Amino acid sequence: MKYFITTLVLLAIVFSGYSQNPLFIPPILEGNNINLHVQNGSMPFLSGKETATMGVNGSFLGPTVILNQGDSVQLSVFNDLDEPTTMHWHGLHVPAKLDGSPHNVIQPHTIWSPRINVLDQASTFWYHPHLHGKTAEQVTKGVAGMIIVRDNQESALDLPRNYGVDDFPVVIQSRAFDSNNQFVVNTADDHILLINGTIDPILKVPAQIIRLRVLNGSTNRVYNIGFQGNHQFYQIASDGGLLEAPLALTRLMLAPGERAELLVNLSGLKDQNLDMFSFGSELPNGIYGAAVPGSMGMGSIDGYSANILNGKNFKLIRLSVTAQTTQAVTAIPSKLVLIQKPDPSKSSVTRIITLSASGMGMGNLSGPFLINGKSFSMERIDFSAKMGATEIWQITNQTAIAHPFHIHGLQFFVTDIGGSQPDRSRQGRKDVVLVPAMQSVRLIMKFDDFSDPLIPYMFHCHMLSHEDDGMMGQFLVTGIPTELNTMINDPVIRIYPNPVTDRLTVEASGVDRSSVIIEIRNDLGQLCLQEKISEFPATINTSHLKTGIYTISFIYQNRTLVRKVVRF
Ligand code: C2O
Ligand code: CU
Ligand code: CU
Repeated sequence: MKYFITTLVLLAIVFSGYSQNPLFIPPILEGNNINLHVQNGSMPFLSGKETATMGVNGSFLGPTVILNQGDSVQLSVFNDLDEPTTMHWHGLHVPAKLDGSPHNVIQPHTIWSPRINVLDQASTFWYHPHLHGKTAEQVTKGVAGMIIVRDNQESALDLPRNYGVDDFPVVIQSRAFDSNNQFVVNTADDHILLINGTIDPILKVPAQIIRLRVLNGSTNRVYNIGFQGNHQFYQIASDGGLLEAPLALTRLMLAPGERAELLVNLSGLKDQNLDMFSFGSELPNGIYGAAVPGSMGMGSIDGYSANILNGKNFKLIRLSVTAQTTQAVTAIPSKLVLIQKPDPSKSSVTRIITLSASGMGMGNLSGPFLINGKSFSMERIDFSAKMGATEIWQITNQTAIAHPFHIHGLQFFVTDIGGSQPDRSRQGRKDVVLVPAMQSVRLIMKFDDFSDPLIPYMFHCHMLSHEDDGMMGQFLVTGIPTELNTMINDPVIRIYPNPVTDRLTVEASGVDRSSVIIEIRNDLGQLCLQEKISEFPATINTSHLKTGIYTISFIYQNRTLVRKVVRF
């Protein structure tokens, strides 16, 4: 009998290594004060020794930060590590000084506290460190989290948005472990999948339409997302916001850094399982994750062909369908939002940006890679863009492997990939685009806000090992805007004149006057003026403000509305 029980216990232990684990859903962090503690930790990923990790407010990954458009939010990043880091808000439209680039270093045991105004549309963004040369290592160890931005337009649509109930974060990462169960950074042996930090995950989902916010948070790997039995799904958002209408798909390729929001209809599937896959066998060669990483059979990467994920189909998550919830979304909306793209006829500049390999030419798939023939330097500004300008960037890939190209601080639109119109899933707001081997991609963007004469924005390959190796550049946005960008059109508050000189008039209706506080901040987020308003219309003395752009926050009843104003 004793022997029998021992055998059962042993069997249970052996099988637990192969059994499915409930998908970890990171907790939510919201409100006007977001505190993020970057810390060391450890995780029992594999049986035996625990893996040394880094996480945010925990051992691995970080909380999902929820922001509301129009809010003014104090972000505080506590570096509890014994090494420097930075924290980048990937996709957020914020000043370069606040965007967590390699220039915004947070020394060990210090706090970095950018205050940002949330100007973005409803989207799925993410945060991760960006210390030059250390990004891959710190992200691999676990420092990353999701950001969900909400806005009124999205809230008015009948979409699943009950976090952890019908709206789920899905952070996909591939990892390699050494014989001591420790992470290996920058290796082609990344064959163990972590979804939200869970190995072999299973997620209980209701039998209705669910929303998956998928982030490719891997160092190098591209995924080709789909479901078992080619179950159809609908893409509703690309990197920086909702598409114009849901797009019915059976596959969606996601490169490192890219996000997509998907709707999956699980009605009628109660008590069944539906597996989410990456169909790697269908990836064309010339992409990290395909059977051959170089296009036209060129080059190889050490250890690549031994990796069991490459060129193969593999499961990402098992969805286990349970009963419908009471407030189920059961129809796919026919329309989402109107997208306004920059007008190409207004474009003043076409920038040619080349991606090339140093040494060994085309056969070099491991890098280091160069942008415009140069390796990254913190001291070099590659170019400046004028505030208010519309620009076209042509990214020409002269290498045999595809690179996901990312630009900080704004959302762009892809006008063509290799001369043809991008597929519809890439026609929305984007901040990462996969540039295929030996092809060019053109992007259009407008520099609406946030000039800074000193602190640049980054552009780089989002394969983190390429980025750390110097496949990155930086640009300044200079000058005063030619056009104002007021993204928040709340009818309650009116300010004029704008641009303003000495006196600003504020009118408001529908708010309780006794509780309105007005704050004016410069484009670095510094407080320049704070006033309590008791009577509308109110006159505010702005004569002491220097010329430039400011944000005005109206704080009332625990809400903050933000507007922009220019001081002339
Ligand atoms: Cu997600 Cu510059 O990075
Ligand atoms: Cu970024
Ligand atoms: Cu690259």
